[in-house]
Amino acid sequence: MDNAAWNPAQYLKFGGERLRPGYELLARVGDLPPGGAYDLGCGTGEHARAIAARWPDRRVTGLDHSAAMLEKAASTPAPHNLVWQEHDIRDWSPPAAAALIFSNATLHWLPDHAALMVRLMQMIAPGGTLAVQMPGNFREPSHTLIRELALAPAYHTKLAALAEPGGSLRDDLVQTPDFYYGVLAPFASGGIDLWQTTYLTALRGERPVLEWITGSILRPVLDRLGVDERKGFEDTLAERLAIAYPRRADGVTLFPFRRIFMVAKRQREET
Ligand SMILES: C[S@@+](CC[C@H](N)C(=O)[O-])C[C@H]1O[C@@H](n2cnc3c(N)ncnc32)[C@H](O)[C@@H]1O
Repeated sequence: MDNAAWNPAQYLKFGGERLRPGYELLARVGDLPPGGAYDLGCGTGEHARAIAARWPDRRVTGLDHSAAMLEKAASTPAPHNLVWQEHDIRDWSPPAAAALIFSNATLHWLPDHAALMVRLMQMIAPGGTLAVQMPGNFREPSHTLIRELALAPAYHTKLAALAEPGGSLRDDLVQTPDFYYGVLAPFASGGIDLWQTTYLTALRGERPVLEWITGSILRPVLDRLGVDERKGFEDTLAERLAIAYPRRADGVTLFPFRRIFMVAKRQREET
């Protein structure tokens, strides 16, 4: 995934709605053993700040590979126990076993979740927690309509690769809750809290769903297109999205967004 293309302003257009699942995830994290806490893919840093506020005596690292996101995060003074780190999750490991690895709305950009979740659980200290939230809507119209259009003859040459293994338009990047339970259970004898929620966001505007996805899943698609192609793609997609997500008489478009949450705890060491 191209890390230069994250746009903090576009992402934060729906800041409240996008950040809420992360706070709900954090609310389910219990006591932690000694050790550092990490927010992987911290973006503009709001959850890392909340983690630092909740555990003021421990070092918290907000890690992201996007310089633009970290620049925005660092534009407000951080509490004394919070640091920012520019790094790619794919080759990151903590200097010592982590008390908490938290990741909100990020790991769906990374492939091979069986290996990824095992790797992250192995970085957690005894009694520590892995807390992850990811979108579970890759087979909903907001995603399938992009994929269909990307594979149409007009865009195929530039975009088909995104629908292939490793591409951001694949529909199997995020697996079922059952899959994650199976992967985490052997490492999480302290317990697994697994749930999913469909948020219904009331969007307004001419092309509200297009606006929403422009800050996330549509971003790598548009980056590959020239100015005219981009306009054509957006116009066609907006028409199809308007049929899939009709506007109510009061001007609101209710946009359903399912998200999967998991809080997996390693067993404490026997005393
Ligand atoms: C959708 S944003 C979520 C940001 C934040 N966690 C939140 O909930 O607001 C995804 C973030 O993950 C970061 N990211 C994606 N892939 C990454 C990787 N391989 N390594 C580090 N950061 C990554 C992006 O730069 C972006 O800031």
